[in-house]
Amino acid sequence: MLLSNKQKDDILNELMDFLKIPSISADSNYKNEILRAAKWTKNSLIKAGCERTKIFETDGHPIVYGEKIVDTKLPTILTYGHYDVQPPDPLDLWDSPPFKPIVKKTKIHPDGAIFARGSCDDKGQLFMHIKALEIMILNNSLPCNVKFMIEGEEEIGSSNLEVFLKNNSKLLKNDIILISDTSMISNTQPSITTGLRGLSYMELILTGPNRDLHSGLYGGAVLNPINELAKIISKFHDEKNRIAIPGFYEKVIEADFNERNKISLTPFNIKKYKKELQIEEVGGEKGFSTLERTSIRPSLDVNGIWGGYTGEGAKTVIPSEAYAKISMRLVPNQDWENISLLFKKYVESITPKGISLKIIKHHGGSPYLTPSSNDGYKAAQQAYTESFKKEPLPQRGGGSIPIVPLFEKILKSKSILMGFGLDSDSIHSPNEHFGIFNLFKGIETIPLFHKNFKKIFRK
Ligand code: BES
Ligand code: MN
Ligand code: MN
Repeated sequence: MLLSNKQKDDILNELMDFLKIPSISADSNYKNEILRAAKWTKNSLIKAGCERTKIFETDGHPIVYGEKIVDTKLPTILTYGHYDVQPPDPLDLWDSPPFKPIVKKTKIHPDGAIFARGSCDDKGQLFMHIKALEIMILNNSLPCNVKFMIEGEEEIGSSNLEVFLKNNSKLLKNDIILISDTSMISNTQPSITTGLRGLSYMELILTGPNRDLHSGLYGGAVLNPINELAKIISKFHDEKNRIAIPGFYEKVIEADFNERNKISLTPFNIKKYKKELQIEEVGGEKGFSTLERTSIRPSLDVNGIWGGYTGEGAKTVIPSEAYAKISMRLVPNQDWENISLLFKKYVESITPKGISLKIIKHHGGSPYLTPSSNDGYKAAQQAYTESFKKEPLPQRGGGSIPIVPLFEKILKSKSILMGFGLDSDSIHSPNEHFGIFNLFKGIETIPLFHKNFKKIFRK
């Protein structure tokens, strides 16, 4: 499938229009933009040739559905993606405005990359699937039935999607789920994501005295909630950088020699990694490599911490309150509800009298593994080999897509994670971008998946 320059330009311009919509799911001020992005997605599905499309309202942001059924005897591929994006702040660290997409060349993307919030996560990647469908229909070469389910709440935990799956399992019936919302090793070494980490997200609110106090009049006599929060945080890891919450590792499946050996053979340059992040040394659980630390091992990080006086100059106070947001990344077979409970018990046990503690449980999700023996995996393997002229490597991802394990539980379907982004594309960060090469390689590889899946799949 060769695209003309005109076709490529049109595709790029269309994606730019999509990226101009600030569909920030976390911020209720952007509700109209969310609706606009949902409608845009539906229209692009219609333009691609979907015969049945619908926007489903939920208790949160809407879900866009579309399908093209060629023949009910053929296998059905369900594509999942999300049209919502992360908030763009801090805005002043962007070199160009987050919702004014522009193409710029970079070292890693010599053909250029589109800079905009959502370019890689996930509008650009989901758009590849819509365009691939459009091209397959145009060329009369669509080999399978396709369904699309595009949601608007992935970045805030997909909390309304589970009920939607339960209520619409017949509509969503499929033989494989295909997702491009992860990354690959590099533009010369494709990979298939064979696992995702789970997540448990918690928030702590510590309260000391009923009001901010003069730090001279009271200092040294009253527990300071920020000091105490710092002590609590310092007890999350032991001297080996293992997580110190009792029972935390109980359900962790320790990787065997074979698996660790495979990881050690994955191309990875620690020097470049440090250079790109401008750090002198990496850090994490003792006895594991960087790739292991971000795939087969769990982690705990404070995402935000605040309280007291943070304005200009100095103000001498003992604050009344201190706050922290904390995420834990989980691996098979950790259960996120159970981990949230262990976390809560541990924090309660190390909080001193004199400080009152409130713990808020935010969203979470289970870890996920895709077996590489599965038909979908094989179809993906062949598709990459044909388009990149190189065998893809399996690689477990460090991020989370909480709905993926629920697809398996509720729809009884496996998910194949064909991500075309790179870890260095700055998703969730300022200057997020997506390579032009990656965009068109994705559009080229997706129809090869469909072709191979039809060939391989046996009911
Ligand atoms: N697309 C990412 C997840 C991802 C990225 C997985 C790269 C593997 C490699 C997704 O949009 C995301 O950001 N998920 C959140 C979880 C969600 C509950 C907010 C995450 O991982 O923090
Ligand atoms: Mn995503
Ligand atoms: Mn994301």
